[in-house]
Amino acid sequence: MTSAPAPVAVVGASGKTGRHVADALDARGVPVRRLGRAELADPVGAFTGTAAAYLIAPNLHPDEPSLVAGWLDALRTAGVPRVAYHSVAWPYAPAMPHHLAKAVTEDLVRRSGLAWTVLQPCAYVQNLLPGLAGDTPEVRVPYSVSTPLGLVDLTDVGEAAAVVLTEDGHVGATYELGGPALVTLADVAAAASEVLEVPVVAERLDPDAWADGLGAAMVPRERDWLRAMFAFYDAYGLPAGGLPLRALLGRTPHDVASVLRRELRGLGSVREA
Ligand SMILES: NC(=O)c1ccc[n+]([C@@H]2O[C@H](COP(=O)([O-])OP(=O)(O)OC[C@H]3O[C@@H](n4cnc5c(N)ncnc54)[C@H](OP(=O)(O)O)[C@@H]3O)[C@@H](O)[C@H]2O)c1
Repeated sequence: MTSAPAPVAVVGASGKTGRHVADALDARGVPVRRLGRAELADPVGAFTGTAAAYLIAPNLHPDEPSLVAGWLDALRTAGVPRVAYHSVAWPYAPAMPHHLAKAVTEDLVRRSGLAWTVLQPCAYVQNLLPGLAGDTPEVRVPYSVSTPLGLVDLTDVGEAAAVVLTEDGHVGATYELGGPALVTLADVAAAASEVLEVPVVAERLDPDAWADGLGAAMVPRERDWLRAMFAFYDAYGLPAGGLPLRALLGRTPHDVASVLRRELRGLGSVREA
């Protein structure tokens, strides 16, 4: 009798990113252990018996290096040999505290003694869906809509995570994950307009107005960190290369228009022909 393969742990599996990673592993027939705060109250117990772990810290965590260091300790104690860490494109950007925290964390992962892989995804196309799925579809952000971004499909990122954890050859690798082309948010609005068959405005909001509006309900630290990110995007964008993702998937990654067609149809916003 053959025993069932050991599961892969996905930390943060209930979140936006983690769901896509866990679903991609599921789709490959890999058993998944979905972990969140409740399970990770006992991290060694949570990881024991798993073959590998995909580590995703919650967005804007105040101390990501310490959080992930605790998970790495637990993986070593539990005897789990393999880890992949969800970082971000352009992690060493001292002007963006939550990116810098990921650069520090990458170093901990590489020096963990575990067999590691680091993924550095750019911003997801899916981040723009809330503004595009409403009655008046729009792209309104507190930074330039003409700045270059390597926007990437979160479904492709989930598939890439499953590839690095289930196929050989990815130990010791760091992969920047951008989409198939650099785009601006004006491009995204144009693509959305074609998909939805309505005009879609792309507009830069005044960052102070954002802070007094949407940002007002946020914890001040998180608001400040996001403002730092918006200022960075405003000045430099967030370009990222597309070739590593293409190589991992063995196909062309989804472009913005195809992601919007899939996602907005799912949300019922595309007019039926
Ligand atoms: N959005 C982007 O474009 C983008 C691009 C690149 C990288 N990233 C990175 O991707 C990561 C995930 O972002 P996300 O928006 O997908 O996350 P998210 O939706 O905020 O989900 C994170 C999950 O982590 C779990 N969690 C929260 N606190 C925890 C803790 N102390 N210990 C263990 N688990 C905890 C929660 O699960 P439970 O409720 O089950 O506890 C939550 O569902 C972030 O680090 C972000 O920087 C995002």
